[in-house]
Amino acid sequence: MRERERERAKQGKTDRTMATRKIIIDTDPGQDDSVAILIALGSPHELEVVAIVSVAGNVPLWRTTENALKVTDLAGRPDVPVYAGCARPMRRQPITAEHVHGTTGINGVDLAPASRPAQDQHGVDFLIDTLRASEPGEITLCVLGPITNVAMAMVKAPDITGRIAEIVWMAGAYFEVGNITPTAEFNVYVDPEAADVVVKSGVKLTMVPLDVTHRALATHERLDRFRALGNRAGQAVADMLNFSERFDLGKYGWIGAPLHDPCVIAYLLQPEIFVGRHINVEIELAGTYTTGMTVADWWGVSKRPANVTYLRDVDADAFFSLLVERVGRLP
Ligand code: RIB
Ligand code: CA
Repeated sequence: MRERERERAKQGKTDRTMATRKIIIDTDPGQDDSVAILIALGSPHELEVVAIVSVAGNVPLWRTTENALKVTDLAGRPDVPVYAGCARPMRRQPITAEHVHGTTGINGVDLAPASRPAQDQHGVDFLIDTLRASEPGEITLCVLGPITNVAMAMVKAPDITGRIAEIVWMAGAYFEVGNITPTAEFNVYVDPEAADVVVKSGVKLTMVPLDVTHRALATHERLDRFRALGNRAGQAVADMLNFSERFDLGKYGWIGAPLHDPCVIAYLLQPEIFVGRHINVEIELAGTYTTGMTVADWWGVSKRPANVTYLRDVDADAFFSLLVERVGRLP
């Protein structure tokens, strides 16, 4: 977001007529990814979803690709192209999360078969070609899963880093510690080498870690608000989150499950409801027990240069009001 808009956003004077921001969503749907995609497609005045690139993560690539096609159909947007990206991490063996998301990755709903196939071009090559054809600062990357595709694009075409406006990535944990290991958050743990490439790339990077998503709890009262919309998208959101909440409710015993990936899109729409700090974040690659940990230097003790805007808090009521309003705009 341009500095002027950020300043106006901070003053609560967000200019709703601000230019539409072009985004590419890189994702491993995933119920929470699916809600993030719906929020983005419900915000056409602020966000132009150029394309979706799928990645192996919550479930294998063929399923994340199929889910991205189905969710865009659900939103009435079969025009949004889906490109299949990487089927495995840069170096490590794939890790999936069916224990959270179910076998399909979007258990809780049984969506209609996709109306069209994914694009033929590989998602990494699509990222490279599209960024090279764009103006510097024109496209924002919204990453909702392991960041393998973006890192591979940076390795294959280092020149694209100068073209990316910003990367906003649901990733990491520090104060909340890990969710897939005691120290690592899933999206980083699946491909820590890819995370390391990106945090060292110099690209403007905003991380949306568990430290903030754990403050956006999808309570049953909030889920009921999606059902009360009376549209198919609202019902699907409630049904998907009602399934995926089982894992977190059983683990944390909270009154609702944290809603991770939609925080990325909400940050683009209303940055003023989030709180963060520009700090140094490094990725642990060689820890016996800490591989994939995001070492977030919140108190600046390392004197290492700041490379990440690291979000730490969110106004949860404003967040869910935004989500319900945007899902309400869909079929
Ligand atoms: O740790 C939470 C992240 O892992 C979310 O993006 C969720 O969809 C899974 O990919
Ligand atoms: Ca995800």
